[in-house]
Amino acid sequence: MTFFDTVLEVLKGDERFFTEDGALLRNAVYEAAMRMDARLIKALYENGQTRERFFTDVDGIAVFDKVGFGWVIENRQFLPDSYTRFRNKIGLVNSRGDYIAASGDVALVFPYKDCVLEGGQTKEDQKRSEIFYNETLAPDEVDRLLYPKVFTGAKRYTKEGAQEGVTEFGEDDNLLIKGNNLLAVSSLLPKYEGKIKLIYMDPPYDTGTDSFSYNDSFDRSTWLTFMKNRLTVAKRLLSPEGAIYVQLDYHQAHYAKVLMDEIFGEENFQREIIWRIGWLSGYKTADNNWIRNHDTILFYSKDSKRLKFIKNYIPKEEFKSIAASGAQRYPIEDVWNASEYDDLNSIAIVSYSGETVSKMLDPGDEVKGQKSEKLIERIIKAHTEEGDVVLDFFGGTGTTAAAALKTKRRFIVCEQLDRHIDISVRRLQKVLEGEQSGISRRNNWHGGGSFLYCELARLNQSYVDAIEKAETDGELSALLREILKSGFISYRVDPKKIAENAEDLNALSTAEKKRFLMEVLDKNQLYVNLCDIDDETFRVSDGDKAFTKSFYGEV
Ligand SMILES: C[S@@+](CC[C@H](N)C(=O)[O-])C[C@H]1O[C@@H](n2cnc3c(N)ncnc32)[C@H](O)[C@@H]1O
Repeated sequence: MTFFDTVLEVLKGDERFFTEDGALLRNAVYEAAMRMDARLIKALYENGQTRERFFTDVDGIAVFDKVGFGWVIENRQFLPDSYTRFRNKIGLVNSRGDYIAASGDVALVFPYKDCVLEGGQTKEDQKRSEIFYNETLAPDEVDRLLYPKVFTGAKRYTKEGAQEGVTEFGEDDNLLIKGNNLLAVSSLLPKYEGKIKLIYMDPPYDTGTDSFSYNDSFDRSTWLTFMKNRLTVAKRLLSPEGAIYVQLDYHQAHYAKVLMDEIFGEENFQREIIWRIGWLSGYKTADNNWIRNHDTILFYSKDSKRLKFIKNYIPKEEFKSIAASGAQRYPIEDVWNASEYDDLNSIAIVSYSGETVSKMLDPGDEVKGQKSEKLIERIIKAHTEEGDVVLDFFGGTGTTAAAALKTKRRFIVCEQLDRHIDISVRRLQKVLEGEQSGISRRNNWHGGGSFLYCELARLNQSYVDAIEKAETDGELSALLREILKSGFISYRVDPKKIAENAEDLNALSTAEKKRFLMEVLDKNQLYVNLCDIDDETFRVSDGDKAFTKSFYGEV
């Protein structure tokens, strides 16, 4: 009989703790312990084993350790089957049955174009959605993954153009960083921990149509692990008065709520904002059901007692035209764009204004999921003053950066796809030049300012990019040879075994080969770590060294 069985036996004497079918009401037990229920304490005292474990003798008085008992009741090994089953149902355990909020797993997500999957699609189609490859690393596989990284290729953009070879980071610089956001944002910790006023996240949603679900293993718990890793760093970066907004839809909003409650604490849950996203027309109305028409934005504070919230109103001149009201201003509800006062339309609706990147830049630059500047402006103005930093992990087309520039805030934005970085840079150049779409007029924006672009210095990430671009089996074989010769390979891989099984490898499809090559790479060595900056092996240029050192300060 294990100790857990003994506890269960003791509890069996109390009918309050069991359903009619004999299932244990774990919460009822926990609550009874916390309020020092006499009957429960007596039962635990009467059994020798539980007495020894949960009671301490102080001068002849037995003192009950309710916290220790609560811990046992909450423990996963206590009734693991039913509990694990339950947690699995709500998606908050990973494949090994560990709590996502407590596990050390790291979900990486790479851009990944699979030529077989994409074969037959036109160039335009390929732009429609991006393919991601994800891999979850167990805690014992992660060592230097989240160390601060070396930056490379810093360029400063102003309305006059781009200045290459920047070697100094200015304390007021805006930053657009190319690279995997988990690693990029972890690199911000030495400099910005506890200092960021506002974080906005607009992650890929893990929908059936979203390419995020491409990899079979990318199920809900992997998506949650992916988010947990990023939210944990986000929390560390937030200042005590800071706020975080995470934009979701019905696929993940409720799972993300449970996860965020665990990470930030329920007391920091501030609002669930419902954003009505569009007019009803076309295919959208065809559903024989209530028509889906909103996003959910979860808003949490770092510390509910110190949260800074700047109350803004909708001024009369901005009421929707149909409003017939004597009111001079209107407070903003947690349901956005759904009253006659509130005009906060989605990008699809305001596209005529020229804010969509395909209108602003080039018709081929369409990006699904672009948000409107007005949405970000509302969030920015509720939590920051001019000069404060706004951080966005999932840059996309650079909406947060554009809104921050136009409202005179500073920004740090990460994005890993070449194409989205390219679009963001071209869009932001126009913003510096004073383009007048989006929120420009409302903020009297006429251009100016600057931003810095830089990348995480790549190591194995160069191979990730090459695998992504490869189109033939021949290219992949050559890449594998190169990786085995000069790349950093995972400790799990034995090159001899690969050679012995060459025939099986050849029999794989191109997509499978790509996946295999990705798995061979040691993910701890995707980018150059700051601690290796002076190591000759990594050939960091003098310019990159100077820029990186000026960013981090003393190293
Ligand atoms: C929904 S879009 C964001 C759209 C953005 N809010 C806008 O208004 O354009 C999500 C973005 O996250 C990027 N992304 C996804 N996973 C990432 C990762 N691990 N690191 C960096 N960027 C990532 C995608 O490439 C995509 O551009």
